[in-house]
Amino acid sequence: MGTYLITGATGGIGTAVAELLRDRGHELILTGRSADRLAALAASLRGGAHAQTQLIVRERNGDPAAAAARAATGADAPIRTLPLDLTEPRRLEAALAEAGLPERLDGLVHCAGVVHLGAVAELDADRWLEHLNVNLVSAAELTRLLLPALRAAQGHVVFVNSTAGLRANPHWSAYAASKFGMRALADSLRAEEPELRVTSVFPGRTATEMQRKVRVQEGGEYVPDDFMAPATVARVVVSALETPRDAVVAEVAVRPR
Ligand SMILES: NC(=O)c1ccc[n+]([C@@H]2O[C@H](COP(=O)([O-])OP(=O)(O)OC[C@H]3O[C@@H](n4cnc5c(N)ncnc54)[C@H](OP(=O)(O)O)[C@@H]3O)[C@@H](O)[C@H]2O)c1
Repeated sequence: MGTYLITGATGGIGTAVAELLRDRGHELILTGRSADRLAALAASLRGGAHAQTQLIVRERNGDPAAAAARAATGADAPIRTLPLDLTEPRRLEAALAEAGLPERLDGLVHCAGVVHLGAVAELDADRWLEHLNVNLVSAAELTRLLLPALRAAQGHVVFVNSTAGLRANPHWSAYAASKFGMRALADSLRAEEPELRVTSVFPGRTATEMQRKVRVQEGGEYVPDDFMAPATVARVVVSALETPRDAVVAEVAVRPR
């Protein structure tokens, strides 16, 4: 079993990734801003306060056989939580040093992200800095800080990018720029670290809190069924992680049907 650190674990896609990795018996390190939300997520993944809800989610979207096997053995790998505010990449080094992270890390899954729509004429420097810090600079800094542990395990880094990282539409400049940058980060890392595997996943619209906020900003209705389920994106992420070691899924785009 491996150890995986997930940023944005409290979000729609991050939680779905955590559930699938948990079903497979991996040790998890969950990050997000709120210690309370992280604790609730960890409890539900451990089969605590939200176990019933989580079981339903697993049976619908996860791997029921794996979940049943895990429940039968009761063999739960540790789940740790690590509150981090990614708007402040300069503080990450101290936070990680204090947390005392493992010496080996099999996977780092970057799921954290923010988006605020607006024309270039409206987006001020603070909005640009928030997008770039959370979506790009902190992803680079966390990767840098965790590289020794990733190298030790010949680990895998997954960047949850966006189709906005492939094409920038009107009102998406700051978010798209951060995601174009994230693709560059992934490509350079893949070339520099041949012992690691590096994957960029480019999802289209997915039914999460982020998408609900986007629809509000677009002045439209939020209909979850119009979009992909976060569990579907999570399956793509975990499938990339589980690809045999003789190959790397370098890039994969996944869009609502
Ligand atoms: N939903 C879509 O349609 C869609 C499409 C393409 C790509 N994506 C990408 O998929 C990834 C996951 O998005 P999602 O849809 O799951 O969004 P979500 O449900 O809104 O989750 C966002 C996650 O990012 C974390 N986060 C936000 N700001 C943070 C900060 N300053 N510091 C630390 N963590 C922060 C949130 O943690 P808190 O609990 O602290 O808020 C949350 O866990 C993002 O990178 C997003 O760009 C989403």
